[in-house]
Amino acid sequence: MKKVIWITGAGSGIGEALAKACNHEDHTIILSGRNKTQLESVSKNIINSFILPLDVTQENQIKQAVTLVKSTFRKIDILINNAGVSQRATVSETANEVGRNLMEVNFFGSIHLTKAVLPMMLGANQGSIVAMSSAAGKFGFPLRSYYSASKHALHGFYESLSLELKDTKVHVMVVCPGRIKTDISKNALTGSGESHNQMDQGQLHGISVEKCASKIVQGISKKKAEIYIGGNEILLIYIKRYLPFLFRRIAKRVNPK
Ligand SMILES: NC(=O)c1ccc[n+]([C@@H]2O[C@H](COP(=O)([O-])OP(=O)(O)OC[C@H]3O[C@@H](n4cnc5c(N)ncnc54)[C@H](OP(=O)(O)O)[C@@H]3O)[C@@H](O)[C@H]2O)c1
Repeated sequence: MKKVIWITGAGSGIGEALAKACNHEDHTIILSGRNKTQLESVSKNIINSFILPLDVTQENQIKQAVTLVKSTFRKIDILINNAGVSQRATVSETANEVGRNLMEVNFFGSIHLTKAVLPMMLGANQGSIVAMSSAAGKFGFPLRSYYSASKHALHGFYESLSLELKDTKVHVMVVCPGRIKTDISKNALTGSGESHNQMDQGQLHGISVEKCASKIVQGISKKKAEIYIGGNEILLIYIKRYLPFLFRRIAKRVNPK
C-alpha cells in the first residue's frame, strides 16, 4: 500500500537513516527539520521525498506544515517524531532557558505535532505515531537532567494517548534507543546553550543508525507499544525496573560522556 511517512529531524542521524529505511517507490517520505540544506542532501537518496522545513518548537509552523501536508497528500500513514536535542551539563550549570528549550524541542515539539496530525489519522481510522524517547526516558543520568525529564514526560503523554485510542486503529509506539552512533553528543547543548561539539565515547561505540532504523521500522509494522534499541546499556532499563538499588550502584560508575 502507498504510504505517506513524515519524519522530523530527518536531516541527520537516526532520522536520515529512517528515511532511507522507508525508501520505496510506493511511499512518499516527508522530510522535516530546521536545516533545509541537510534535508535536500538526504532527499537525493529518496525516491519520493517532500522537503518540509519545520522547527517543531514553533506552533504556527506546525499548523502551516500540517495544512500543507493535508492539502497535498490528504493523509499521513506514519508520523515519526524523531527531532530532539540532548544536553551535556549539570543541573547547576544549565540555565533555565536552556532547560526550557530542551523541553520545548523534545517534549512540546513532539506532542504538538502529534496533536495536529491526530485528527487526520482519526478521520481515516488508521496510522502510526512514533515518539522518539531514549533509555534516558527510563532512568535519570548525569549531565542529562532536562533531557531525561523531557524524555520521561513523553512516556506519560504517549501512554495516556495510546490508552485513549484503544478503540481505534491508530497505533502509538515509543522508542527508547540507548547509544546510537550519531552526532547527538556534538549537537547536545551545554549549560549556556552552546553546542557541546564533542563526540562522546558512548555514541562513538554505539550501534549503527541503520540497525536502529531497521528495528524502528520492524516495531511499526508489528504495532509495538514500546521498543528498546542498543547494546548492553539497554540492560540498565531492566535493572532499574527490577533492581533499583543495583541500578544506582552501576549508574554512578558509568561515564556520562
Ligand atoms: N543517538 C543516540 O544515541 C540517541 C539515543 C537516544 C535517543 N536518541 C533520540 O533520537 C533522536 C534523533 O537523534 P540523533 O541521534 O539522530 O541526533 P541528531 O543527528 O543530532 O538528530 C537530531 C535531529 O533533530 C533535529 N532538530 C533539532 N531541533 C529541532 C527543532 N527545533 N525542530 C525540528 N528539528 C529539530 C535536527 O535537525 P535540525 O538541526 O536541522 O533542525 C537533527 O536532524 C532524538 O530525539 C534523540 O533524543 C538518540
